[in-house]
Amino acid sequence: MNGIRLCGVGKAVPSKIVSNADFAARMDTSDEWISSRTGILRRRHCGEGETISGLIAQAAREALDASGVKAEQIGACIVATATAETLVPSAACTLQKDLGLPENIPCFDLNAACTGFLFALHTMECLLNASPRKYGLVVGAENLSRVIDWSDRSTCILFGDGAGAAVVECAEGCPSISAVMGCHGSRELLYLPGAESGVHSYLSMEGTKVFKFAVEAVPWCIGQVLERTGKTVDDIDFFVFHQANARIIDLAARKFRIPPEKYYKNIAEYGNTSAASIPLVLSELSEQGRIGSGSRILAVGFGGGLTWGGCLIEFA
Ligand code: ACO
Repeated sequence: MNGIRLCGVGKAVPSKIVSNADFAARMDTSDEWISSRTGILRRRHCGEGETISGLIAQAAREALDASGVKAEQIGACIVATATAETLVPSAACTLQKDLGLPENIPCFDLNAACTGFLFALHTMECLLNASPRKYGLVVGAENLSRVIDWSDRSTCILFGDGAGAAVVECAEGCPSISAVMGCHGSRELLYLPGAESGVHSYLSMEGTKVFKFAVEAVPWCIGQVLERTGKTVDDIDFFVFHQANARIIDLAARKFRIPPEKYYKNIAEYGNTSAASIPLVLSELSEQGRIGSGSRILAVGFGGGLTWGGCLIEFA
């Protein structure tokens, strides 16, 4: 089986900025509490006229432009999201129409909460090996502001909206991304009701328990990916973490002695954007010229499900 590699990345975030002070103005919280516990200073929320479908299309167009790949060359399209604008059609089918992707390809949404983008990369690697077209489009996107419970101060301050996209190529001789991933069914720790619940959907979370799960899952994923690929921390150019809490990232970095110049946090600007967070980081690192041709990136995510995953992916 051939592996996949990144050819181009893109991102889109809504224009409305919601600061910690905005939360403090409407509930019993403070900038000090939020920033010291989470690392978040502000986040973006979709405002009037802004939709997740619009963000997805914008991020995907940017990724296609960056890669030089044409819409008609795409062999599969996956949108990782738990907050699509419509369940049917899927966000991926809406994107297919917006971009004019070929009709004889699979386009579908995938929900693995914050780990969705990594599950989607792994799925894309499998799909492209069976496709006559060698390029795939993978998007992570969320509109979490739509499902936050404004009466729950411990979770509503965490989440933001956004979309990140990647065009990948399945290339002869390219190593597999060696994805490790897992799930542990749990409604108790992180829950977002679905279409049949008959109630308005709000996200609820037992934050402290999820924190404990994350500080074990993230190092486990890093260790597994390094072991499977036979690499060491020194062999990795950049570590890309799901942006859920700055303290979770720093703990993992400390455990593996990852130097500060090899990892990145944008949680201060965007909060936790769930499935969008890893591709948003990839896109910003690429914009800043910190990753590019030949970069070897170890990405790690975790989240609702519970789910977790990691992989090693190179830039073409
Ligand atoms: N402002 C002020 N005080 C607050 C706030 C707030 N916004 N929220 C909670 N508090 C209070 C609590 O009431 C509690 O007070 P008490 O001690 O008097 O009872 C105190 O602060 C501590 O609350 P905890 O919930 O224990 O705070 P904790 O340190 O665990 O931080 C947080 C909470 C930031 C949510 C943290 O647990 C966390 O980041 N968890 C991980 C979340 C995560 O990674 N999720 C990923 C998946 S998301 C997805 O899949 C969609």
